[in-house]
Amino acid sequence: MITSAIIAHRGLSSLAPENTLAALKLAAAQGVQWVEIDAIALGDGTVVMWHDNSVDRCSNGTGPMSEHSASSIKDLDCGSWFSDAFNQERIVNIEQAVLQIQSLGLGLNLEIKLYENNAATVAAPVLAALQKHWQDFDKLIISSFDRTALDYCQLHAPHIQRGKLYNTIPSNWQDELKQLKAVSCHCHYQHLTAPLAAAIKAQGYDLYCYTANDPSSVNQHWQWGVDAMITDYPQRFLSTPEPIES
Ligand code: G3P
Ligand code: MG
Repeated sequence: MITSAIIAHRGLSSLAPENTLAALKLAAAQGVQWVEIDAIALGDGTVVMWHDNSVDRCSNGTGPMSEHSASSIKDLDCGSWFSDAFNQERIVNIEQAVLQIQSLGLGLNLEIKLYENNAATVAAPVLAALQKHWQDFDKLIISSFDRTALDYCQLHAPHIQRGKLYNTIPSNWQDELKQLKAVSCHCHYQHLTAPLAAAIKAQGYDLYCYTANDPSSVNQHWQWGVDAMITDYPQRFLSTPEPIES
């Protein structure tokens, strides 16, 4: 069960470089209670907190993740692309990320991205880090667009809550969420409709939307029953009055 209506996307990614320790710390400092991060595998099997399938956009390095290893990313600067103030930021592995989030007392929506990897390559290190360091499993949810990643988690760590990510929610959502024993359904905010939201809520699922950055664009979503909004700008939502129950 989600315990906060606002989730900082990739950490507080409007004020710090996404998926960095700085973005996590800033989220906590701004009063955010939950963060969303991405987990992906390098070529040597190291799983890192990172979104893209290459280091090009968010670091001073180049190349696909499959051609990188723990040693090749170690010294990459993943903060200067955002601002010089963050030039000390480095790509961190998932264990470091989980430890930081835990120590900040934040809730975590951890998104597994497989890209070309199989489920075990990414999910096994993620689950190992969570089993080792995570304490409050009510404040943790694993999500993924990749069904096989969630199947793997269901099999190997059934006690960890799962949510299925969609861009547009497909017609078979009910079967899929049931098979996954998911607790939540996550979709793009622009693709949600009132009847769909009502149907999902009627089945007892939590409903998350991403990535809404203008609070006025999702006024009606709260009325439809959306439980949590994933946003790059939690500060805009946190300074807005709480949504009013209809
Ligand atoms: O988990 C919601 C959102 O992060 C999914 O899209 O591409 O930003 O990881 P993306
Ligand atoms: Mg994500």
